[in-house]
Amino acid sequence: MNNLLVTGGAGFIGSAFIRFVLRLSSFAGKIVNVDKLTYAANENNLNGFQNHPRYRFIQADINQTEFIERICLEQEIDAIVHFAAETHVDRSIVSAAPFVEANVLGTMSLLEVVRKCPYIHFHHISTDEVYGSLGESGYFTEHSNYRPNSPYSATKAASDHLVRAYAHTYNLSTTISHCSNNYGPGQFPEKFIPVMILNCLAQKPLPIYGRGVNVRDWLYVEDHARAIWTILTQGKKGQTYDIGGDTELSNVELLQQIIETLAVHTGGSAQQYQKLIHFVADRPGHDFRYAIDSSKIKKELGWTPIWTLDRGLKKTVQWYAQAESRMI
Ligand SMILES: NC(=O)c1ccc[n+]([C@@H]2O[C@H](COP(=O)([O-])OP(=O)(O)OC[C@H]3O[C@@H](n4cnc5c(N)ncnc54)[C@H](O)[C@@H]3O)[C@@H](O)[C@H]2O)c1
Repeated sequence: MNNLLVTGGAGFIGSAFIRFVLRLSSFAGKIVNVDKLTYAANENNLNGFQNHPRYRFIQADINQTEFIERICLEQEIDAIVHFAAETHVDRSIVSAAPFVEANVLGTMSLLEVVRKCPYIHFHHISTDEVYGSLGESGYFTEHSNYRPNSPYSATKAASDHLVRAYAHTYNLSTTISHCSNNYGPGQFPEKFIPVMILNCLAQKPLPIYGRGVNVRDWLYVEDHARAIWTILTQGKKGQTYDIGGDTELSNVELLQQIIETLAVHTGGSAQQYQKLIHFVADRPGHDFRYAIDSSKIKKELGWTPIWTLDRGLKKTVQWYAQAESRMI
């Protein structure tokens, strides 16, 4: 891989990927980050990299097909790594239209660019949520059926199908990855972990859907960045890889860990935060459990998660505590 066009690189995972790749001694190419800068973007996620000689930021919408094609030609792009999306399930329940526009039409627009420049490899970042919900047991694999349950996951599923169909019809070089829930520094504070940390620090209620029994498999964002890089450099054209953290927790179990990590960090008591827990009406159609079997990427490409939840949460709590004190 020489020159990469990263979409959505000012967001949580895209920026972690850019930081990860630009630090690699084995990467000598350049990264062009195309991001629309929606509410979820945070340019500070790339502090320290803005003036990197092999990094360039361009504010644009991925639906600007001709403009993206021109960038690819001018910047001699070899691969597109596609993160850009609307990503918050609750927002998709309020209004699906922005999700269709960014996730479905936006992905199609990029595939049209690759259709015109078929030497460009296209890696599509997707989610385990396309597989729907598991019961108490079992795991998602690359062979699981698609059963998206939220407007968000339905648009991600649609984008996966477009990638597969374009690759098949036009013989394009593509790969897809489905990842479990990510956590780490720089996530927009509407998602579970940053909301809980920031509300604890501000002594505000900690809202938990239903009884907090929904289970997710958590992966530290840097492990996801490394998995994507592994797929880009060693993956096989046309393949799908599922990426999980081997760290399944219910929401109440995760909150307990966050609280304990915070109590150590602030020197406060866990009870002071526990008192803030507040159960709220469940999310409509809330998926019960997601869990990924990552055997394929582990066996075929040698990737494995290396961050433990303890270490990752400590780093995440430190980052939000510092971010919060900067805001005050
Ligand atoms: N966060 C997770 O736990 C998770 C898990 C699995 C997969 N994913 C997938 O990973 C990708 C990145 O997720 P994230 O959590 O970093 O998201 P995010 O919401 O933090 O960032 C999304 C970024 O995309 C940009 N963007 C949105 N629409 C755009 C458009 N039309 N044109 C250009 N840029 C646009 C935004 O400005 C933002 O910077 C998404 O595709 C998401 O579906 C996320």
